[in-house]
Order: sequence, then C-alpha cells, then structure tokens
Amino acid sequence: MTLRVIPTEGRTLNWITISLEYSRTITGEWCQVTLLWVLGTEGMMDLVTPTVTNHDYLIGNDGACQVLSASSQPSNGDPSSTAEMNGAVNSEQPYRLYRFLTDLEDIIHKHADDRSQLLALCPLVRRLLASSSWLELSAPQPAPGKAWGVSILYDEPFFPITVQLVTWQPGATSPIHNHGGWGIVALLSGQEKNRFWRRLHNPVDPTSQAPEYPHQIEAVGDRLVLPGDIITFLPDAIHSVEALGDAPTVSFNVYGPTQHDQRLQYNPQTHDAVRF
Ligand SMILES: [Fe+2]
Repeated sequence: MTLRVIPTEGRTLNWITISLEYSRTITGEWCQVTLLWVLGTEGMMDLVTPTVTNHDYLIGNDGACQVLSASSQPSNGDPSSTAEMNGAVNSEQPYRLYRFLTDLEDIIHKHADDRSQLLALCPLVRRLLASSSWLELSAPQPAPGKAWGVSILYDEPFFPITVQLVTWQPGATSPIHNHGGWGIVALLSGQEKNRFWRRLHNPVDPTSQAPEYPHQIEAVGDRLVLPGDIITFLPDAIHSVEALGDAPTVSFNVYGPTQHDQRLQYNPQTHDAVRF
C-alpha cells in the first residue's frame, strides 16, 4: 500500500502518524498503536510495522544499528543461552528483579567486553519483562511542567549498575547524548523515535581525519521503537529520543559502569559537547 505525498516547498517532511487501532503490550495490556508512515524516495511512503515487534537492537559506537538475531546471542554455558532465558516464562517461578540483578552481576564478571555483556543481558531483560507486569503499573508520573519522570528500581553505592523506569511525555525530546557506559532501554508502552549519531572523528581509528571541531557529529539513522523492543547501546553510541504519538512512553532502563567524564551532551549547531 502506498500513498503519494508532496512536501511543501522548502520543508522536509520526516514523519506522519495515523492512529488506527489498539494492540497488546508485551505484558498483555491493551494500548493504542499508531501506524507510522515514513517518507521515502520521491514522496512514496512506506508503512512501518504497527505491532508489538520484540526487536533487539545493538547501537555501535559509530551509530550503526544492528538488529540482533538469535545467532547473535551467546551460548555454551552462559545462563542467557537457554530457551528459558530467551524470554520464556515459567509461571510457577516468576523471574523476579532480584534474580535478574544476580544474573546481571554474573554476566558482568563472566564477559569482559561491553558488547558481550549486552548480548548476554538482552535475553535476560526480555525474560524479566515477560514475567513482570508490575513494571508498567509502576511507571513514574512526570512532575508538573516536566517532560520526563524517573523511578529508580536499583542503585547501590559501590556497585555500578542503575535500573530505572522512565516516562516521557508525548512530544518530549531528549538532548543528543551518549552514556559513557553501556545501556539497555526496553520500551514498555508508547512509541519513540531514536536517532543515532556518530562523531566525525574517531580518535581510535588512525584513518579517521580530524574535523575542524573534535565533537562534530552527524546523524546516521533513525529507528522507530515500539513496545517490546529492546535497544542496547555501547558506551560511545550517541542518540537522541523523541516520544511519538499521544501517550507517554514508559521504558525499563539498565545502565552499566559509567565513565562520567565520557558521558556527553552534543550540540550539532555549535559542535560543542558538555558533560552531564
Ligand atoms: Fe540515552
């Protein structure tokens, strides 16, 4: 199905949303689903999937978005390699938050690099969400006048893991930022557009030419994130988020060990970056 749209002269049309139906979230609740149409070449518009999709994504330090497949997941003795860890729910023994945290710590000790940790953790997050409908019921309400609200589920001194529930009001946008440590964001409800960026200069790449501004960035792609999707970030992955639709977004976020001097907000107009 296609729809021809002619953008107004001098304007760039990126997104059109059309609300059409309701669907279930990953925890079984009904929610409004918006069909999203993306402007393609020559004004043709392509329908983006309108349902709960359960995609897993890995965003690299260069902003590349990799769709994780089953073959990307670890095996050979890792607890996350079992069928049970890949999202299956044992109704007699729910996968509770404290068990998730224990498995998370084991994975951090077992896997030395960030990417391996994320690949091992992603199925655990999916399993936790499938077993924890209470998470959506605990969604934080933004304070009056604020675009977002945060509820801390776990934050222990001297153990560098933070677990949060985060709510964004419809239409809210985040600064362009990286996290200085790996991150996992699982969308529970609502819809968001993630935009990925890359620094023009990669200091660890000898073939990378230094631009005029060391923090100069450029956008490399967008991804629509729907309920059930899990998006994982390497420490230097740069992104910005826009909450789409008419309903708030609620996400379950996990952040790993963070290098705070490497956690930056970027300004693509001034090419500056500041710590946050
Ligand atoms: Fe972020």
